[in-house]
Amino acid sequence: MLAESKYISFVMTKKNNRPAGAPTAGTRIISPSMLSAEFGNLARDTRMIDRSAAEWIHIDVMDGVFVPNISFGFPVLKAIRTASDKFLDVHLMIVEPERYVARFVEAGAGLVTVHAEAVADLRATLEMIRSHGVLSGVSIKPATPVSAIADVLDVADLVLVMSVEPGFGGQSFMPHSLDKVRELRAMGYGGLIEIDGGISTANAAAAFDAGCNVLVAGNAVFGAPDPEAEIEKMLNI
Ligand code: DX5
Ligand code: ZN
Repeated sequence: MLAESKYISFVMTKKNNRPAGAPTAGTRIISPSMLSAEFGNLARDTRMIDRSAAEWIHIDVMDGVFVPNISFGFPVLKAIRTASDKFLDVHLMIVEPERYVARFVEAGAGLVTVHAEAVADLRATLEMIRSHGVLSGVSIKPATPVSAIADVLDVADLVLVMSVEPGFGGQSFMPHSLDKVRELRAMGYGGLIEIDGGISTANAAAAFDAGCNVLVAGNAVFGAPDPEAEIEKMLNI
């Protein structure tokens, strides 16, 4: 078991989704991606994650425009919210995400992450997310440099570094994405860093070492013979 102190600042509830304190350098969170769940058994799979050592649940929203795939929206998010009290980490891979922030918060999001490539006024959007009382996140695709978000880091509670091209689960991890994580830490970014795409026990240690706090894992969790044990393994690696 990990020391509780690593997590104590990230105890969140449905009513108050903001963390009680600032993240510490050692904060480690696993955020299983529901994109890899079995949708015919969504409540069962959500309850399984609810029992596990994963503190967050990652929700991939895709519109078929920003990415070449369509996933799910509010009704599915509400169903997940009903089946779990865990912190909902909502990753919006949609154009004009600012139009939908309020509705995602209402549906239960604790963190709303928008793509830097999808938003015209990133600062205003991140401030607007915070004004709803939830965490603000900004994501960059593999080809987008850290410099593209350098001037909004002060209003980003989390940076999500994509380690695959967004759109599909089950792709191979791009190792150079960890250079961006190191770059963000070298710039003095003290918020949470999340990494998403191709994460498994094969690269979880390298991701934590580079400075990541939150590891998203879809296939590695839901494709494992024992998903709960796999989450423990990734966390304690
Ligand atoms: C990809 C999504 C990811 C995806 C991760 O566009 O943002 O969250 O579900 O799945 P794995 O871990 O299977 O690469
Ligand atoms: Zn994602």
